[in-house]
Amino acid sequence: MKNNIIFSVLFCLIANLGFSQTDLPTDYLSSDFHKDRRESLRKSMPENSVAIIFANPVRNRANDVDYIYHQDPNFQYLTGYKEPNSVLLIFSEDQVNGDNNFNELIYVQKRDASKEMWYGRRLGVDGVSQKLGFSDVYNGEDFKNIPVDFSKFDKVMFKNFRNDVRDSKRNDADLYSLIEQFKTKVSYESIPSAIPADEKIVEVETNIDVKTLTTLMASLREIKTKDELVLLKKACEISAVGQIEMMKAMTPAMSEAEIQGIHEFVYKKYGVEYEGYPSIVGAGNNGCVLHYIDNSKMSAGKEMVLMDLGAEYHGYTADVTRTIPANGKFNTEQRAIYDLVYAAQEAGIAKTVIGSHMRKDIDKAGRDIINQGLFDLGIIESVDQKHLYFPHGTSHHIGLDVHDLSNRGLLQENMIITVEPGIYIPEGSDCDEKWWGIAVRIEDCILVTKDGPVNFSGMAPRKASEIEEVMKEQSILNAFSLPVLD
Ligand code: GLY
Ligand code: MN
Ligand code: MN
Repeated sequence: MKNNIIFSVLFCLIANLGFSQTDLPTDYLSSDFHKDRRESLRKSMPENSVAIIFANPVRNRANDVDYIYHQDPNFQYLTGYKEPNSVLLIFSEDQVNGDNNFNELIYVQKRDASKEMWYGRRLGVDGVSQKLGFSDVYNGEDFKNIPVDFSKFDKVMFKNFRNDVRDSKRNDADLYSLIEQFKTKVSYESIPSAIPADEKIVEVETNIDVKTLTTLMASLREIKTKDELVLLKKACEISAVGQIEMMKAMTPAMSEAEIQGIHEFVYKKYGVEYEGYPSIVGAGNNGCVLHYIDNSKMSAGKEMVLMDLGAEYHGYTADVTRTIPANGKFNTEQRAIYDLVYAAQEAGIAKTVIGSHMRKDIDKAGRDIINQGLFDLGIIESVDQKHLYFPHGTSHHIGLDVHDLSNRGLLQENMIITVEPGIYIPEGSDCDEKWWGIAVRIEDCILVTKDGPVNFSGMAPRKASEIEEVMKEQSILNAFSLPVLD
């Protein structure tokens, strides 16, 4: 009883805190945006179907500390709800339950004074209804009594489970329980992909469809709305400013971690919540590891430093790379490779137009230039030689995911993709050792428009001579000295 009173008082305190918090960003996507996205998904769904989207799991980092929670991007796109342990259902047509008609349902985390004191505010049923604009909101624990007979639908669409969600919290409304209850309701264990390959003897009749929803979501997410482009532009520009500030601040004594810190400090100055992926800062040979995230080299010295970082602003991430000489001046070999990648990127950006194909047009344009250039420099023996000096593709979509969902068709207006050719010559490569340890990637975020490509991250110089000019400038960070520790 006493506990109940304490919790009630706490609850009121927290609830009031929630309503009295001011000075928040004012440029989040609106509930109308998310509602409109749900409407668009509904319109694209087959007749007599239901789409079920689960929140992302919470991931444990160490003992009682979890990783920072990141919402499932489809769930985020359709709801704006940032909390875990929830499930959204969208129906192609109105459903009737007694007097109530609904075409969507959402089950969310229940409010809990003690949990909120430790881990932060929850919206709860009322918050989701008032702030996110849902009419039919329930607590997760009510999902087991959902007024829906899944067997009557022609299609029950969801993304297949990885079956890697731990039952750590042991309550019947956590994500593990929601998924288990759902599997029972739709007879999930009988779908072919849930059965081990050697037991698939008979074809099973099922209305479960674990493919179509991803295609429908990709069709929506790959074309950005005006509101999304505002956030993406901001994320790209902030990332570009980080690159510029770092060009000014760079010294050969700087460590990879310090360089990472300067970019990320700039992000925070602009109110960025996260990085869209672990920051990649690789000096010299480290740049040859495409997703190098150790960032542990103590000083950049005479090397070039490959810096691939992206600010994630209100959920939307940039993906920007610059490669610069730590001492402010490219040497002959560095410059030769750099200029080749630059030329490849220019050719790729020029092809980033309506109707282009990411591989057949953009990638090919840059790859041809790189192959010819590597041959001219004597690094490969013929332009057709198979090699690993440019081992990745040139483009991917960006958005809520850094490698954003898309159906990979021809480019359309308001798609936004990266153009990121690179050359990587690891130590020990089969070429003159003067090239060893050189790694260059140049990456920008390019919007496809009716008037041609628009470079959202173009504020950061890309041309070698322009980079050298900016590196002559000083940064306020050069005066930032801290005490030496033992
Ligand atoms: N930062 C990852 C990529 O460039 O795709
Ligand atoms: Mn990229
Ligand atoms: Mn990148």
